Amino acid sequence: MDTSNGPFQDLERILITEAQLQQRLQELGQEISDTYQGRELVVIAIINGAILFLADLVRQIKMPLQFDTIRVSSYRDETTPVQAPEIIDKIRLNLKGVDVLLVDDILDTGGTLSKISQIIREMQPASLKTCVLLDKQTPRETEFEADFIGFQIPDAFVVGYGLDFAERYRHLPHIGVLKPELQNPPQWP
Ligand code: IMP
Ligand code: MG
Repeated sequence: MDTSNGPFQDLERILITEAQLQQRLQELGQEISDTYQGRELVVIAIINGAILFLADLVRQIKMPLQFDTIRVSSYRDETTPVQAPEIIDKIRLNLKGVDVLLVDDILDTGGTLSKISQIIREMQPASLKTCVLLDKQTPRETEFEADFIGFQIPDAFVVGYGLDFAERYRHLPHIGVLKPELQNPPQWP
């Protein structure tokens, strides 16, 4: 692939390569399959961020499963005060009495996963665990730890493999740190 121009040039450095992602996903899939042996899993992924992760992860889980996606409101880039995230789309699967694995791209402050976990718990699943591709080393207000973690990363703004800045860069096959001067370009909406 020609990486000499376009979105690839917007990265300060690559943090996780495509090969490292695929290798770790195999291991994660194995860990998850071992944990839920003999049971049937319902995977709920938060989109858009977890789309690529979900697609690759479920192909590494060797057991019966169902999956669905949820969209969560985010006020991050707006001028309105940051509010607690809410599920925009109703979850269509009946989660009562089933084992649920909630999947997100990245754990940052923990606000998103703790709020969505609380909403899912109200649906009375038999169990609820969380899985994140990236665990950012940020000081957390909410004490939240994910059960399955792909990679620990430093406190930097990363994009690629589903992660965006203003909806860009999600399609990159690797994960990298966005150049700081591109994190708030005035010409972007
Ligand atoms: P939290 O609620 O602070 O844990 O943030 C989780 C959400 O923030 C993720 O689902 C991402 O959409 C977004 N996010 C946090 N850090 C990054 C980053 O470095 N790059 C892209 N998105 C991020
Ligand atoms: Mg996002």
